[in-house]
This record gives sequence, structure tokens and C-alpha cells, in this order.
Amino acid sequence: MTTFITTPIFYASGDPHTGHAYSGIIADIVHRFRQLCGEETILITGTDEHGQKIAATAQAHNTDVATFVEDKAADFAALWPQLAVQPDVIIRTTQTEHKAHVSKVWQTLAGKGDIYPGTYAGQYCVACEQYYPARELDGDCCPVHKKPVTTVEEASYLFRLEHYRQRLLDYYQSHPSLITPSHFQDAIIEQLKSGPLESLSVSRVNNAWGIRVPNDSNHTIYVWIDALFSYITAIQLSGHNSAAIAGAVHVLGKDILKFHALYWPAFLLALGLPLPEKLVVHGWWTIEGEKIAKSNPATAVNPGVFSEQLTADGLRYALVRQKPLSRDGNLALDELKAAINADLANNLANLVKRNNTLVLKHFQGELAATTKNQLDDECGQLLASCGQQIEQVIRAYRQYELYQVTLTLKQILDQLNTFFHQRAPWLLGKGQDEQHVASTCFVVSNLLRHVALCYAPITPQLAVNILAEQGVDLTTAVLRSDIELHSVSINGAGSHFQRLH
Ligand code: MSP
Repeated sequence: MTTFITTPIFYASGDPHTGHAYSGIIADIVHRFRQLCGEETILITGTDEHGQKIAATAQAHNTDVATFVEDKAADFAALWPQLAVQPDVIIRTTQTEHKAHVSKVWQTLAGKGDIYPGTYAGQYCVACEQYYPARELDGDCCPVHKKPVTTVEEASYLFRLEHYRQRLLDYYQSHPSLITPSHFQDAIIEQLKSGPLESLSVSRVNNAWGIRVPNDSNHTIYVWIDALFSYITAIQLSGHNSAAIAGAVHVLGKDILKFHALYWPAFLLALGLPLPEKLVVHGWWTIEGEKIAKSNPATAVNPGVFSEQLTADGLRYALVRQKPLSRDGNLALDELKAAINADLANNLANLVKRNNTLVLKHFQGELAATTKNQLDDECGQLLASCGQQIEQVIRAYRQYELYQVTLTLKQILDQLNTFFHQRAPWLLGKGQDEQHVASTCFVVSNLLRHVALCYAPITPQLAVNILAEQGVDLTTAVLRSDIELHSVSINGAGSHFQRLH
């Protein structure tokens, strides 16, 4: 079965920032990990291009809205290669196929009576494109943007969310790890238990920039229906059936949990479609304590700039190394550099270079295969201990605990470096015999091959370079938890990661 890994589709209302980059990088890491395990996965990203807010922003820039979103979509598309993010499908909500798909969805839901005409009165935040119940407001301000909400009462089509409450509750209770980390799932279950769900307003009368409601052109379809169904449009565009949404892993920030954990599955249930495999929810990045947001220009540094300063591998690594996924974290360039230098430049790349240099110098790059039983005890112990830790790394990847992945990889490298120093293979002929040196380099080379594979989803270029020196092609390599000892054939000893200054 194909797994679809998705990023949220990004609002085409401003330039990409590092918060957006984070959603994209996490999804790409999950995608690369699954592919490395031999699974078939498709990475979907895209841009959310309709809605009042985008129309207003385009107007403020004196630009025609279609041209405006075209430019922003191009900015996002251009960002991904700079971050080594490799989407298979880039969906835009202004695409003809998508608009036709959403109209059809609407007709089905309206035909079933799940969508019906009415009026809606509430507190609306234009920036979020959503109504807020009083209990979620911060005084009279939106909890995300901290800006006053406006009272709106207007004709609106409504979706009968309550009709699906019990089924949603049953589903979450019978799939306890659908949302990761689990405290987000607990919160959704609490909300579902706490009483009837208000009908959701799913159309707007004061927004011309959107998909028209079929048979009622005064209304446009609510941007969140429009946006969420882009996941399925993209699945269809990749040649699969809508039901393949069952194999979807949605990566999203905690600010958009409600849309993905309540509204999205309710729409899918209403259409008789299966629910996604997983919601992976991440926290926010701040800069000097301020949430990175396009409305706060001091924080909205283009992630391409960070990628130039840290390299794409460095940025990707630092973002998962600095905090557990679901927590918030502060992005401080010097701290990121320190972690990258310590872990990637010193602990990993430097060890690879030193080991490979010795194998080339003393063994012409070639070390014959040896079985575990032929190795001395120290080597055996190292293999056993690193083997267990590599299993932990793979388990952590499977559980989307990417921070844990980096911590365990760091522990493995600490062990490898300690082993290398204690065994001092550079003292060949000066106290260390050839057998001792050969087995040291043999074990280290084999473990570094596994370690490089484990790093590959996070730091793909670094992994490609390290593996190439062992004659391994990452595109055909498969990550397994058991340590395989191969003969070693080293063809280079390059400096794969320059220290950052
Ligand atoms: N268009 C909607 C998503 C629709 S998905 C069907 C949207 N777009 S967004 O551009 O505002 O945000 C996209 C992603 O960026 C979200 O996952 C959001 O959490 C993430 N981030 C935006 N700012 C962020 C930080 N400061 N830190 C980390 N991620 C944050 O919401």
C-alpha cells in the first residue's frame, strides 16, 4: 500500500518562513525514512490560495490576486530544493482539477443533507479564516494572532458536525495512537465527550476569491474545506483512488489540530471515506521568544537564508535535534551552529575521515569480511551495544520521535569515537598490531555505514557522501535493524562537513 505523507498546504499570502520550513522538513524526513525501509511513499505539499485574507493581501500589494498567488506558490516551490525537501506532488487550490473535486464533494455532502443553508453568528478572525467560540478567545482577541476578532452574522451554509461526534469519538477511542503525541489525542477525545458540537459554517458570502458554492454563486466554499480536500486531489493526481487517504500521514502544527482532528475526519466519514493513518503534530518555533509568523517581520527570516548559513543538512538536523517535535523551541543561530559542529562535523564527519584515511593508508582501502566470532571481545561488545541502539533509532523513527532519533545517534557516535580513541588504530607498528587495527577499522567502517543510513532521512547529502566512499548507493540502500558485517572497500577520505563559523 502507498503511504501519503503530507505537509499542510501553505497560505499563499506571504513569504515562506522557518515555521513553514519545519512542517516541510518533518514530512520529508518521514518520507525519506519510509522509503529507506523499502516502503512506497508519496510526499505531498502545496499552497492554500483562496480566501478573504489572501484577496485582501493581494489588494494591499496592488496586485491582481491570481498573479499574487502564482508568485507565492512559486516561492514555496523554489524553497523545497534549498531544504532538500523532495515533494512528489505540489498541489495548488486554484488548480482546475482541485476546484472541480471540491465542487463535487460539496454536492455530495449537500445531497446527503450534511450541508444545509442557515445563518451563522460568531466571532471571526480573518487571519485564521475561522470563527472562535467565546471560550477559546483571549479577551476579545484571537488566541493565535492576538488581534481583535470581529462579530459577524451572515447567511451561511452549515455542516452538521454533531451528526458525526459519536462516530469520531468511537474511532479515536478504538485507535488510541492516531494522533502523536498522544496528549493531543486526549484533548480531542475530551472535546468530543464534552457535549454537542456546533454546526460548522462552511460558506462565506463576503468573499469572492474562492470556489463558488454549486447552485448558489453568492457563496464561496469555506477555505478549510477547500484546503483539506487538497490532500485527496493530490492523491488523485498521483493516480490513486480517494480511499487511499487511509494511508495518509498528515504532518501539521498544533495551531491547525482542530481542523485535522475534528473537521477533516468528520468530512471523510460523511463521504464514506476511511480516516488517515496518522496525525503528527509539531510545536512552534520562536525567535527571541516571539512566534515566527509572517505578521511579525523580525521573525520571518526566509529559511533559505538559514539553509545557506547552516547548509540544508545542518538546518534539518538542528531543527529536529534542538527540541522534541511537539514542544515549542527558540531558534538561536549560535546554538544551532554549536549542535551542528559538535554532532555532524566533529562526532560524525571527522570520525569517518580519520577511519577512512587509515583504511586507505594501511590496507589500500580493502578489509576482508570477518564474522562476529572472529572478532575480539571489545569489538563484539561494541557491535552488540550499537546494534541495540540502531534498533532504538529505527523504533524512534517509526514513532515519529525524531528528537530521540538524534539523541540515540549521538550516543552511538560517542561510543564509536571512544572505541576509536581507546583502540588507537593510528599506532599501527607503534604498539598496535595489524590484526588489532584491521578489526578496529572493520567494525568502525561497518557501523559507520549503518549510522550514515540512519542519518540519511535527516541529513541526506552528508549520508550520500559518506556512503559513496564505501561504494554504497543511497537510492538502492535499505535500512535494517540488524547489523550486517560486509567486507569494506573504501574509495576516499573526504571532509564531508566543514565546521560552521
Ligand atoms: N493553510 C493552512 C493549512 C491548511 S492544510 C489543509 C495553514 N497554513 S500556514 O501557512 O499558516 O501554516 C502551515 C504550517 O506552518 C502549519 O503546520 C503551521 O503550524 C506551521 N507553522 C507556522 N508558523 C509556525 C511556527 N512559528 N513554528 C512552527 N510551525 C509553524 O495553516
